[in-house]
Amino acid sequence: MSRFDEQIDRKNTDSVKWDSIEETYQATDLLPLWVADMDFLAPSPVIKAFEEYSKKGLFGYSIIPNSLYQAVIDWQKRRHHYLLEKADILFSSGVVPSIALAVQSYTNEGDSVLIHDPVYHPFAAVVKENNRNLVRSSLTTENGHFQMDLAEMEQLIVAHAVKLFILCNPHNPGGRVWSKEELLAVGKLCQKHGVTVVSDEIHQDLVFAPHTFTSFQLVDPSFEAFSIVLTAATKTFNLAAIKNSMVFIKDPTLREQFQETQKRTMHGEINTFGYIGTEAAYNQGEAWLEELLPYLQENIQFVESYLAEHLPAVGVMSPEGTYLMWLDFSSFGLTDTELQTHFIEKAKVVLNSGIIFGSKGTGHMRLNIACPRATLEEGLARIVHSFN
Ligand SMILES: Cc1ncc(COP(=O)(O)O)c(C=O)c1O
Repeated sequence: MSRFDEQIDRKNTDSVKWDSIEETYQATDLLPLWVADMDFLAPSPVIKAFEEYSKKGLFGYSIIPNSLYQAVIDWQKRRHHYLLEKADILFSSGVVPSIALAVQSYTNEGDSVLIHDPVYHPFAAVVKENNRNLVRSSLTTENGHFQMDLAEMEQLIVAHAVKLFILCNPHNPGGRVWSKEELLAVGKLCQKHGVTVVSDEIHQDLVFAPHTFTSFQLVDPSFEAFSIVLTAATKTFNLAAIKNSMVFIKDPTLREQFQETQKRTMHGEINTFGYIGTEAAYNQGEAWLEELLPYLQENIQFVESYLAEHLPAVGVMSPEGTYLMWLDFSSFGLTDTELQTHFIEKAKVVLNSGIIFGSKGTGHMRLNIACPRATLEEGLARIVHSFN
C-alpha cells in the first residue's frame, strides 16, 4: 500500500475543493474531483518546517533568506538543468498574481494578449480584468493530443498587434508537455513579431517519462531576452495555501519593469510560511515527489482502462504531465449546461466543466486524479453508473 492510498477526511478544513460545494450545489453527497490540489498530505519535512517555525512564536517581518534562493537555484539545476543566479529570481504570492503583474508590466490598456483555447481559465480572466484585448488561438487535436496551430497564431499576432503571449507548459487542462521543437517554433514566432512571452511552468515537476519538460528559456539562448518564467513549489508539493511562487527573469529590462509593477502595487512582500514551505520542499521533498509521480501515473492508467471498459464513449486525452485529465463527453449530445447538471445531479461528482477553459472545451470535463485510488474508483463508478 502506498502512502497516497490513505483517504484523508478533508471536510471541514475550509478546503475550496471539499467545503465550498455544498453551498454552490445545495447537496451534501457530492464527490469533489475538481480544483487542482491533491487529497494527499504534504511531505513530512515541510510539515516539520512549519512546526519548527510556529513553535518559536516569532512572526515579525522577515527577510528572504539566502538559503531559499539557494534551494530554488539547486532545484532548477538538478531537476531541469536550468541555471539561475540569485539576481534572476523574484518571489511572488502566486503564479496567477504574477501573470497579472506581467500583463501590467509589459502591456497597456487595450493592447492584445494571446492565449490558447482551451487553457487554464484564469489566463483569460486576468487579461479581461486588466482591460486588455483577449485573443485566443485554438489548439487542434492530433493523434489524441493538443497541438498549437502556428499559422493561426501568426495570423492573430499580426492582425491584433499582439504584445504578450501567455504560454502554459505543461498545459492545463490537456496535460501536454510541449516538446523542445514545438517551443522553438512558437518562440521564434513570438521573437519575429516582438511578442513578450510569459511561460507558466507551475506543472514543470509533474511530468511522466518518457516525456521531458523543457523550460521556455532553455530552448534557445536568445529567448531570455523576451520571456519570463513563472513557477512554484506549491503545485508539485501540494502547498497551494502558502501562496508562494517564483518569477525567473534574466533580461534586466524585463526584470526592472516587473519589479516596478511589484513596487507600485505593493506586491513585494510575501507570507513567511511561503518561504519556509518552498525551501523545505525543494531541499527535502524530492523523495516524496519520486513516490508521487508513479502513483499519479498509475491513477491515469486506471482511469484509462476503467473508462475503456465501462464507458468507452468517453474520449480520454492521455496526459504527458499534470494530474489533470481532459475527458470528452460530446458523444452524449448534451449541452454544456446539461452536462454539468448531469454530473451534479445524476453522477454526484464535481469535475470542472470544460467550457470554462474556452470554447474548445465544449462537451468536455476536467478530472483531477490526484487522490487515493479508492476515491478515484468511487468517482468513476458514479460517472459510469450515471451514464449507463
Ligand atoms: C497552469 C496553472 N497556473 C497557475 C495555477 C495557480 O497558481 P497559484 O496558485 O500560484 O496562483 C494553476 C493552478 O491550478 C495552474 O494550473
